[in-house]
Amino acid sequence: MSLTYDLDAASIAAPNDLEAFWMGFTANRAFKARPRMVSRAKDMHYYTPEGRPILDGSAGLWCTNAGHNRDSIVAAIQKQAAEMDFAPTFQFGHPLAFKAASRIAELAPGDLDHVFFCNSGSEAGDTALKIALAFHAVTGKGTRTRLIGRERGYHGVGFGGITVGGISPNRRFFGSLLPGADHLPHTYDREKQAFSKGEPDWGAERADALEGIVALHDAQTIAAVIVEPMAGSTGGLPAPKGYLKRLREICDKYGILLIFDEVITGFGRLGFPFAAERYGVVPDMITFAKGVTSGAVPMGGVIVRKHIYDTFMNGQEHVIELFHGYTYSGHPLACAASLATLDLYRDEALFERARAMEPTFADAVMSLKGKPGVLDIRTVGLVAAFDMAPSVEGPGKRGYQAMETAFHDEGLMFRATGDTIAVSPPLIINEAQIGELVEKIGRTIDAVM
Ligand SMILES: Cc1ncc(COP(=O)(O)O)c(C=O)c1O
Repeated sequence: MSLTYDLDAASIAAPNDLEAFWMGFTANRAFKARPRMVSRAKDMHYYTPEGRPILDGSAGLWCTNAGHNRDSIVAAIQKQAAEMDFAPTFQFGHPLAFKAASRIAELAPGDLDHVFFCNSGSEAGDTALKIALAFHAVTGKGTRTRLIGRERGYHGVGFGGITVGGISPNRRFFGSLLPGADHLPHTYDREKQAFSKGEPDWGAERADALEGIVALHDAQTIAAVIVEPMAGSTGGLPAPKGYLKRLREICDKYGILLIFDEVITGFGRLGFPFAAERYGVVPDMITFAKGVTSGAVPMGGVIVRKHIYDTFMNGQEHVIELFHGYTYSGHPLACAASLATLDLYRDEALFERARAMEPTFADAVMSLKGKPGVLDIRTVGLVAAFDMAPSVEGPGKRGYQAMETAFHDEGLMFRATGDTIAVSPPLIINEAQIGELVEKIGRTIDAVM
């Protein structure tokens, strides 16, 4: 196979060989038989190589919260690429990394005021878990090594993330994972909460399962609990009312660190800079990625509370305090993209916009209640999920067909997880586009039922 590397429009528009790229989390053979290809984007839309607009119902992969190819973000990346391509952040520094850390910390609640940078949500999850273990070791509590996640949780694909994650296919081929982990029960019960808007009234008591885990293992063996305030990847499951407060109380009671994975819920998805603010709970760490650059350059990180950072700042000053970091932590292009993105969020009040839009969005998506085969619709912030009855051909088939139909016939992109359609548009979506989005989903469901 010969490849030419001239990036002219034609070669971008029509790659002649799809074989070499082993696509992640993708049905490769089905995709390559009938590709869903996009080659350009602006604001609320992707465009196929043929120029067909695709309404972005998923902010890419829950990341482009400010919309696509925003001029100021593009300009900031271009300027930084011309100024300084790369600089190490091990033992050296560059101003934008410090600026970005300060700006991100400013958005976090309470005394969450230090930022450790990495490049993805997976790295952020593993970093937070490592900081938790190291924190206990440094404070003389080295027996605290257990990590507690939750069923149906997603914390990326590193070994730490899949260990505390609660999605069976992401775990089952990968050996024994990290030792000593345990899981809280998930918080979804269709009988008790079907078709509820926002946080379900039922379910706070599921946090009490942590008491059982403590009784089983002993608090002195438990380092941290990690949960998503709203489970995104398993179909938009918002925390039940009061659930996160209960978790916080139990963690405080037993000296367990509480980590919120805000890779999806951060940067406006639930109408606040972080969901921690929506729920009035200050965790010990927040992981973030995706929306921090509106998806334009990979970036992730962990925000930690002051006392955690301070705990490490002891001993001889020339000695490295935490033996962890990534070559690309605080990459100049990512920092430039992030600063421009945070400016946009502020100047266009996009988090407030998401909050203001939430009732309109919720009413619109609930209008599909009653459609044959729709078993539940959930919505919180600018997230909606539609559970469809599985097809007789097996679980996941209906979801796949819906994703294909939406893309090819309706000009709409969304995530399908199993037989659930997950929707999370950029926060710049307007009312007319919400109407269009819901109409397209409605026709898609009709087509695949
Ligand atoms: C809650 C959560 N955590 C972590 C991740 C992993 O992020 P990444 O794919 O950037 O590694 C994701 C990705 O969707 C996520 O939704």
